[in-house]
Amino acid sequence: MSTNLENDIKQEVERRRTFAIISHPDAGKTTLTEKLLLFGGAIRLAGTVKARKASKHATSDWMEIEKQRGISVTSSVMQFDYLGHRVNILDTPGHQDFSEDTYRTLTAADSAVMLIDVAKGVEAQTIKLFQVCRKRGIPIFTFINKLDREGRSPFELMEELEQVLGIRSVPMNWPIGMGRELCGVYDRMNNQVELFQGNDHSKIEVRKVEDYNDPIIREMAGDFLHDQLTGELELLDVAGDQFDYEKVSRGELTPIFFGSAVNNFGVQTFLENFLKLAPSPTPRQSTERLVEPTEEKFSGYVFKIQANMNPAHRDRIAFLRICSGRFERGMSVKHVRAGKDIKLSQPQQFLAQDRDIVESAYPGDIIGLFDPGIFRIGDTLSQAGELTFDELPTFSPEIFAKVTVKNALKHKQYQKGIDQLTEEGTIQVFHSTSGFDEIILGVVGQLQFEVFEYRMKGEYGVDIQLHRMTYQFARWLVDDKIDPSKFRINSVLVKDKKDNYVALFENEYAMRTAIEKNPTTKFLEMAP
Ligand code: G4P
Repeated sequence: MSTNLENDIKQEVERRRTFAIISHPDAGKTTLTEKLLLFGGAIRLAGTVKARKASKHATSDWMEIEKQRGISVTSSVMQFDYLGHRVNILDTPGHQDFSEDTYRTLTAADSAVMLIDVAKGVEAQTIKLFQVCRKRGIPIFTFINKLDREGRSPFELMEELEQVLGIRSVPMNWPIGMGRELCGVYDRMNNQVELFQGNDHSKIEVRKVEDYNDPIIREMAGDFLHDQLTGELELLDVAGDQFDYEKVSRGELTPIFFGSAVNNFGVQTFLENFLKLAPSPTPRQSTERLVEPTEEKFSGYVFKIQANMNPAHRDRIAFLRICSGRFERGMSVKHVRAGKDIKLSQPQQFLAQDRDIVESAYPGDIIGLFDPGIFRIGDTLSQAGELTFDELPTFSPEIFAKVTVKNALKHKQYQKGIDQLTEEGTIQVFHSTSGFDEIILGVVGQLQFEVFEYRMKGEYGVDIQLHRMTYQFARWLVDDKIDPSKFRINSVLVKDKKDNYVALFENEYAMRTAIEKNPTTKFLEMAP
């Protein structure tokens, strides 16, 4: 017989949708997020998120960097209710100075929304983020934005998704005209048209139709656009992929929605369809077993640690993704790595920068835990026994630097800082294998270096200087016997914190040559 607790958890899990929006800067992520929050009633005024993005009132001195750059260093979490669903949007920094946190945040999402600018198509940062989602096999939904501007043809964009990302797509709706000619979209799944009214695109009319040949569309859109629409949709019906829920669930097929975030056009239909199709929190693999979200016993893992959001304290916040059970304020849980029971008394929930104390939370939710220095990235908290969620992957750094300490007397603090900040995942540290104990720092985004430098000075009193190196790629080597002499041309061999060999390359050519010359060695993009 099922208990009240079991039923409660089951219901809450079913209605949850936890996702991240992945995009290249300027595709419109802030705008789209804001529209979604408006639908959910989480904010009342358009411009709120935008204003935060460029806010001069940073919440703490830690936000100095954010203030200077007008970007979001924090990947915060936004929650709202819509049509009975509880939606968690995990924000991933969109600036080109994104960091490993951005990647780690994706591990906490159950699905992703890939936002693409209709004129620019698939861009560099989208590719990187897509690949992380791809590896996890989570469903990816595509929103093609800025339809009110001249852009590429939908067919060209579908082709690009396939060529560049290797994913097939299925349009859920289709534009009727584009740019200045845009008059609406045809919803293929629900057989309806959504039409813009008036020049300012501010009103939208929704009409049920028989199919795309319906004379109502011709009347509203005119002969030329209707002929174009029917021609394109006939082609799509014959040559395009059918919608296949299983393939979407496995991340092999991406449903595409066309719209314009700033005009709020196509956003609501996107949200409603997305909520129907996107998965609720999925089971998570631990070292011991698969953990079902509906299990009564609580479990979760830390995917991100953020320092000093509060200027009054040098505290840290650990972001925990709940994987199973019900979280309750004040509950005792096992900190599995430390082998200790701890009490979770001041957990926080996030809506942009505001923090609220949370009383209870469920799988799919993210809570912020006050961290006096006891958490590391990947730590598991559990009432469900001694399980550990699969350690978070280490992502391949692309920018490298050597460090020198300006004041040699500060060596001890320097070492302490390096150890702590590596554990927190601010940077990755490699040791040279040349005989000198020299360290090389690796990051995926320049911002991580700036954060590192800032915190070394602020928290450990150490002034450092970073010397950029010319390496661009890191590959973990798996081989029974590694011969360091083979990695001397345009590359260097270093070791990571677990003594794994890692080769750093200056360019793709050097990397390809090394791969060809060492056929028995595996070159991995992530730590084994
Ligand atoms: P991001 O978070 O992905 O970096 O993008 P953001 O939302 O800040 O949007 C980038 C720019 O694109 C903004 O213009 C925004 O208004 C615009 N934009 C977003 N959605 C649409 C759309 O559907 N159509 C058109 N035409 N533009 C769109 P901006 O000039 O940088 O800022 P603003 O002064 O207009 O706010």
